[in-house]
Amino acid sequence: MTLALPQHDPAPRRDSARRPAAGGSPGPDGGPGARPSRPRVLSIAGTDPTGGAGIQADLKSFAAHGAYGMAVTTALVAQNTHGVRSVHVPGPAFLREQLDAVSDDVEIDAVKIGMVADEANAREIGAWLDALAAARTDTGRARPWVVLDPVMVATSGHRLLDAGAEQAVRDLAARADVVTPNLPELAVLAGHDVATTWDDALAQATSYAATSGAVVLLKGGHLTGETSPDALVVPAAVPGASPSVTTFDAPRVDTPHTHGTGCSLSAALAALRPQRTGWEEAARDAKEWLTGALRSGAALQVGTGRGPVDHLHATSPVLPR
Ligand SMILES: Nc1ncnc2c1ncn2[C@@H]1O[C@H](COP(=O)(O)OP(=O)(O)OP(=O)(O)O)[C@@H](O)[C@H]1O
Ligand SMILES: [Mg+2]
Repeated sequence: MTLALPQHDPAPRRDSARRPAAGGSPGPDGGPGARPSRPRVLSIAGTDPTGGAGIQADLKSFAAHGAYGMAVTTALVAQNTHGVRSVHVPGPAFLREQLDAVSDDVEIDAVKIGMVADEANAREIGAWLDALAAARTDTGRARPWVVLDPVMVATSGHRLLDAGAEQAVRDLAARADVVTPNLPELAVLAGHDVATTWDDALAQATSYAATSGAVVLLKGGHLTGETSPDALVVPAAVPGASPSVTTFDAPRVDTPHTHGTGCSLSAALAALRPQRTGWEEAARDAKEWLTGALRSGAALQVGTGRGPVDHLHATSPVLPR
């Protein structure tokens, strides 16, 4: 299968510098000059051994969207559908070894960054992104799309990162194309109280997008009501795009099984962007897919707590004939 990846534009404009390297002319067999058959997408995140969140969820989300998934671990997390038991952080030196092992070898089309775990890790990821962008510019290639899921606040409301790490995540947001905060995370990023209405949330997202220069995919999962809207907020600072707010409405699925929805959505966005013409198209498709995954989550019967969504709800398995 050959996907219609966007053509590479080596012109050194800021917007084109953010386009994925799409390879050369199409070729049937993956030989020299052939375009890759799938976007190569990297998750940088923590783990979830029960598979509903973190890199395990990201890899399923990538596969469900036809991407080739790769993963670099920031932290090993002992967690299940009831919560986190403990976290082991191997540290920034080994994190960098993992990142370099991938980027020294593989042309990465998109990156999804999730839980960074601490300030040192966040700064190492920033340094790696800068080195990758510089290397790509030197060789006239475009840098990967970057989606940042700024995991900072647990569902309980507990702040997961200290002040230094929160600032490091803000600095990472400046390097990302799209940031996908939930409402408590948006409040931390924007320096406000947590929004309690969709209109307040939109106002915060618009002001944060304007000051940070990043596109924001605002997530409404933490509100209540018949629907669970998300919105893509594009500020004036994004080259080649007009400032806009696009709302994606979706019915709120009546289910307790929402573990990993944020990870899965941001991973879908990263996997889809190289295969779509813009963030709006990618976000629309990711949201529709996630709503289906939420609807099918209960039937998985994974765990006795807040279970995962079904990443493969729209994917046919390979079965023996
Ligand atoms: N019950 C639901 N029905 C439909 N969509 C939902 C529901 N809960 C969350 N979502 C959607 O899931 C996505 C993640 O939203 P949410 O605000 O829960 O993010 P999050 O808190 O970062 O998630 P996580 O807890 O996985 O980190 C959004 O697209 C949101 O609209
Ligand atoms: Mg989240």
